[in-house]
Amino acid sequence: MHWRRWSWLGLVAWISACSDPGSSSDAKAQTPSLQPVDWDGALKLPIAEDLNPDPHVFETHLTASIASVELLEGLPTEVYAYNGSVPGPEIRVAKGDRVVVHFTNELPEATTIHWHGVRVPNDVDGVPGVSQPPVEPGESFTYDFVVPDAGTFWYHPHMRSSEQVGAGLYGSFVVTDPEEPSDLGDELSLVLSDIDLTPDGQLDTSLLGGATELLFGREGNVLLVNGKVNPKLEALSGRRQRWRVINAARTRYYQLAITGHDFLRFAGDGGMIERPVLEDTIVLAPSERAEVIFTPSADPGATLPVRWVPYDRGFGSTVRDEVEVMRIELADRAPHVDAPLPPLNRVIEPLDVSSATELLLELTQNDLEDGTFALGINGVPSWDAPPLHADLGETQVWTFKNTIDFNHPMHLHGFFFQVLSIDGAPPSVREWKDTVDVHVDGETTIAVHFDERPGMWMLHCHILDHADSGMMTMVHVGDGDPGPAAPKH
Ligand code: C2O
Ligand code: CU
Ligand code: CU
Repeated sequence: MHWRRWSWLGLVAWISACSDPGSSSDAKAQTPSLQPVDWDGALKLPIAEDLNPDPHVFETHLTASIASVELLEGLPTEVYAYNGSVPGPEIRVAKGDRVVVHFTNELPEATTIHWHGVRVPNDVDGVPGVSQPPVEPGESFTYDFVVPDAGTFWYHPHMRSSEQVGAGLYGSFVVTDPEEPSDLGDELSLVLSDIDLTPDGQLDTSLLGGATELLFGREGNVLLVNGKVNPKLEALSGRRQRWRVINAARTRYYQLAITGHDFLRFAGDGGMIERPVLEDTIVLAPSERAEVIFTPSADPGATLPVRWVPYDRGFGSTVRDEVEVMRIELADRAPHVDAPLPPLNRVIEPLDVSSATELLLELTQNDLEDGTFALGINGVPSWDAPPLHADLGETQVWTFKNTIDFNHPMHLHGFFFQVLSIDGAPPSVREWKDTVDVHVDGETTIAVHFDERPGMWMLHCHILDHADSGMMTMVHVGDGDPGPAAPKH
């Protein structure tokens, strides 16, 4: 009897240790929260289940399929989803963990998964025809890699990306740092996206991508935070929160504001930045991330709307109204007084660019005879572009020069870079980035060190309609044959 009881308890402990998302490395399993019970209930993301008992191996299943979800209240919407939800489940691992994702494609079309911002080996980067074959309907593919960096990342398909991301395929990928100072605040992941819906809640595919739509980029008419329209967060005034914010929209820029509040940004695309900076809005171009400390301070019972504020990303982008994307309801309790925040600094040495190879990359548009257009880099669309090249160990300095009436958030796979200047001025703080916004008529200069992992890596605009329209190329890192031009996105 005793033996059975013990083994049963052991089994329960083992099962919950490997399936409980709050276990081991998870930062959410901290001291009991002071926040109201179920404070983030409306914003909860499903958490990917770890099926591997080894604490340093995270193994899970992801399936892409057509699913019916409720985005507008009471109306089902048929979307593309990972494991049936939009966003897909959040993957939470610790720095240094090995991640094994058994991916199955149940969509009616081919797809892949790209681990945006994670410095993965080339053969699991998810670029079809380059790092792997497309995963055809009914097929599977196993992604297996070690996560070298702590930070906030995400995953999404890399085939017909604008359509597939726009239909609901994206999810957050959080890599915790076991050495991070404790109590940065109660943690929340906020996956920002938008979707085009008809009034009866169906995916609106009538915008099939005419020249104007593609050049502006398609923005959905419904703004979502963790897949919800204007969800409610219940919070305690004075108690700090640590937000991991991801812009997973295919085109939309996010500028979030809360009247009377600032955000202390301490991490970006590639983990912690040099020192925290106080900002009055959170601005994220498509695919960028920010980690901020936010402390609501208002009277108990007050509601703080979180507003999307138009951001000037080029022609016609500001002639729109603000949208309330989320609201924070403060508990009817005396405000809390937090202990001081631990110091949040990181030493980031500037890359040595004294012998760097310099490259000018003009972001260009060619109008074609049939009334359509192609975007490109240095006048060449992706499908005709020979790869750029870097030797292993080489440092390069790239200047993106924008010749088009819209901003372009340029994203490099596989490597972090440092921004040297934006429109002639150095950025206020040093950080590791994988995406940088290039302004209208602007010039942005970055430095990147191709230190390891030779192979073919992608460079593209993360307005996915722009990438699909040709603003994309490959970077061949290492010796040997650079191979063909990039495939169509
Ligand atoms: Cu999120 Cu090729 O990118
Ligand atoms: Cu990427
Ligand atoms: Cu662009």
